[in-house]
Amino acid sequence: MDHLWTPDSWRAKPVKQIPAWPDSKALEQVETELRGLPPLVFAGEARTLESRLADVAAGRAFVLQGGDCAESFAAFNANTIRDTLRVILQMAVTLTFAGGVPVVKIGRIAGQFAKPRSEDTETRGDVTLPSYRGDIINGFDFDPAARIPDPARMLKAYHQSAATLNLLRAFTYGGYADLNRVHGWTLEFVKDSPFGEKYEDLAQRIEDALDFMASCGITAETAPDMIKRADFYTSHEALLLPYEEALTRVDSLTGAWYDCSAHFLWVGARTNQEDHAQIEFARGIQNPLGLKCPPTLTPDALIRLIDTLNPDNRPGRLTLITRMGHDKVAEKLPPLIRAVQKEGRAVVWVCDPMHGNTIKAGSGGYKTRRFDHVLAEVQGFFAVHEAEGTWPGGVHFEMTGQNVTECMGGADAIGEADLGGRYETLCDPRLNANQALELSFLLAEDLKTLRRKRGRKVEGSREKGE
Ligand code: PEP
Ligand code: CO
Repeated sequence: MDHLWTPDSWRAKPVKQIPAWPDSKALEQVETELRGLPPLVFAGEARTLESRLADVAAGRAFVLQGGDCAESFAAFNANTIRDTLRVILQMAVTLTFAGGVPVVKIGRIAGQFAKPRSEDTETRGDVTLPSYRGDIINGFDFDPAARIPDPARMLKAYHQSAATLNLLRAFTYGGYADLNRVHGWTLEFVKDSPFGEKYEDLAQRIEDALDFMASCGITAETAPDMIKRADFYTSHEALLLPYEEALTRVDSLTGAWYDCSAHFLWVGARTNQEDHAQIEFARGIQNPLGLKCPPTLTPDALIRLIDTLNPDNRPGRLTLITRMGHDKVAEKLPPLIRAVQKEGRAVVWVCDPMHGNTIKAGSGGYKTRRFDHVLAEVQGFFAVHEAEGTWPGGVHFEMTGQNVTECMGGADAIGEADLGGRYETLCDPRLNANQALELSFLLAEDLKTLRRKRGRKVEGSREKGE
């Protein structure tokens, strides 16, 4: 890949999943307006995230990435943002304690609007319309007018992202993320969960650790950065390139290009072709990148994509987000890991246990996922990394702080018949707050076991004088 990169060099490449807007003049006007609007994040923050991810690549930290499949204009309000953040913070505390490593928190939020679709059209009865592609492109209602792509939606998405990010920054720096408070919420979850006693022990040990820190003088007053504040980063799929291009700016400190629509951008499974537009765009921005790895991705293709996206082998630059399916992870993941190891590439491995486990169920034919499958894929991911001697660097969930009924199972035993109760997602089914927390408790146990084994290995090699 030796041709010159510019923010618009993707335009000369084949492109998938980007609609044709009927009014090209209106589109150009929106792009011009977006180019004049302030960046949403600062390049320095993206670099800080890259260095945190370099710690993950080295096995010294763990990633928790989560949020909506698709953010929506209609569900935009302070409570939704707060509740999603709250659950991510709770999960992070649990995983930090069990894993014994810092957890890098990244939301699918403040810009996660554009959706790739398997089908270009949707048919209901004898009516066929263009598919819904996310609120940044067209409307969800099954109505011919709503489904026409409207460029003005990009401006609305930008402003919603700005307001969301503003609130996230206020919460994470203003005291809402205080560790003691976060743990207080978790205790309530444990108290109310039907399986509560299973989680009590871990919750109590976190409580003891917080008490211990306080008695050593580590409190919100003496160490606000540790106790009171949390670092929280934003991410979304780099799909809608006219929008991403317009927010791509030269960093005044380094002269490098950053896509200032979010800290972290990933390329989706449907747009990972090495000679296509999304990969071309991603290779030139200096934000830390994610690449979704579906079961169809071959080791050779993966190495070529790594060559393109991270030619300098910068640790933290590239996160491989594997989404194989619970029944395929044991077979499909090892060849990818082996190829990466053999070629000596520094990457972060993250497990997305959502996108390979989608099924249809219930009388409404709801798109759903089973809690047990989600858990099984992460456990499979941990097991493969343990066998390969590599670090399972993190997890990526579609989840919400609301008690929706979109995924089946979990302690509340959501069944097929319950799916219609609160099925609110615009796209894929999300874990609800209780399911997400429960999952973090179950994974915490696995992480702890992994950490003990790794600790023993390090001890063992020291004893042998290595
Ligand atoms: C997503 O993360 O919402 C998504 C569409 O994932 P994938 O590209 O892995 O299918
Ligand atoms: Co999704």
